[in-house]
Amino acid sequence: MNIQYRPQIKDLVPYKPGKPIEDVKKEYGLTEVIKLASNENPLGSSPKAQEAIRSILGNLSLYPDGNCTDLKEVIAKKLNLSLVQVLPSSGSDEMVDQIAKTFLNNGDEVILADVTFPRYLTTTKMMGAIPIIIPLNDFTYDLDAMKKAITSKTKLIWLCNPNNPTGTMFTEKTLIDFLDFVPKNIVVVYDEAYNEYVTRDDFPKDSIKLLGKYPNVLIMRTFSKIYGLAALRVGYTLASEEIIANINKTRGPFNVNTAAQVAAIAALNDLDFLKRSYDVNFEGKEYLYSEFEELGIWYAPSETNHIFIDVKKDCQEVFRLLQQKGMIIRPMYKTYIRVSIGTMEQNKLFISLLKEIIH
Ligand SMILES: Cc1ncc(COP(=O)(O)O)c(C=O)c1O
Repeated sequence: MNIQYRPQIKDLVPYKPGKPIEDVKKEYGLTEVIKLASNENPLGSSPKAQEAIRSILGNLSLYPDGNCTDLKEVIAKKLNLSLVQVLPSSGSDEMVDQIAKTFLNNGDEVILADVTFPRYLTTTKMMGAIPIIIPLNDFTYDLDAMKKAITSKTKLIWLCNPNNPTGTMFTEKTLIDFLDFVPKNIVVVYDEAYNEYVTRDDFPKDSIKLLGKYPNVLIMRTFSKIYGLAALRVGYTLASEEIIANINKTRGPFNVNTAAQVAAIAALNDLDFLKRSYDVNFEGKEYLYSEFEELGIWYAPSETNHIFIDVKKDCQEVFRLLQQKGMIIRPMYKTYIRVSIGTMEQNKLFISLLKEIIH
């Protein structure tokens, strides 16, 4: 008698993160390795968040506040929402899982883009739902094609704006036209992991107002990117009271740890760190763009902290050669790689190593 696994997980592949810096150092005998592979904040994290973590070191024997009351209050106040519309989670990763568990049944159709954040596809399949995959158009979400893909079986649509890995965005007008079209029984998940980096004016900057008009919309945000708290695993979702109450049923009792809760509150209030992070990213992006242009390297215009580029060589080969030289980036497919924007020093090193490799 064999153990029976759910058939829905048969073809799933575990998430493959980039190699840790220490492993790469050992493998190649390097003393210095730089990781521009996971869209982390190159400035580290807010000193105020670090201070907040030190303040709880005497309490590690106690369970966290399972309701995340203080964190919810700070977020709700900042965004002018009601407490019952806010749900923190252990990173947006956990929330993607919880959303899938809350809404998806076997045979439901789920619309998502290709390429986009990979967890949307994995969790969709995990629940036995049917992914309806809409290719990007010119490296950007194709919301018109997504509209055409809606059927009576459509249950949920995943949107990522700006998109990971391409860094591209769609406009507020495009989003509103889309939401006006989508029937209100279809859940639209709007993932804004990178919204704080956006520079363009036609981006839906004030997405919170959508919640009032579209009761089927959920907004996901994270502290892992501009707030620099990826190690702590904390994000939050905003939606109607009804949606939040239902997702809340699917989570573990103490899913957001105490360090994450206090650090997130401190980070939200550290406007100086946020501004520095934004500025470093903006300057880094301008620098990388100008270097790419000089090198004749195509890039997708990015509104995030990463850039999707065509290195005109097999991406796995470029990844391997850069890794040997102590630089970890993310190979995507064919000749495309994704590089996170680092400090100016890291960006310059990346460009000089890339030049060695592609010439
Ligand atoms: C678009 C997008 N959504 C969600 C996540 C997950 O973020 P978190 O660290 O909060 O789990 C990422 C992380 O890279 C992302 O790029």
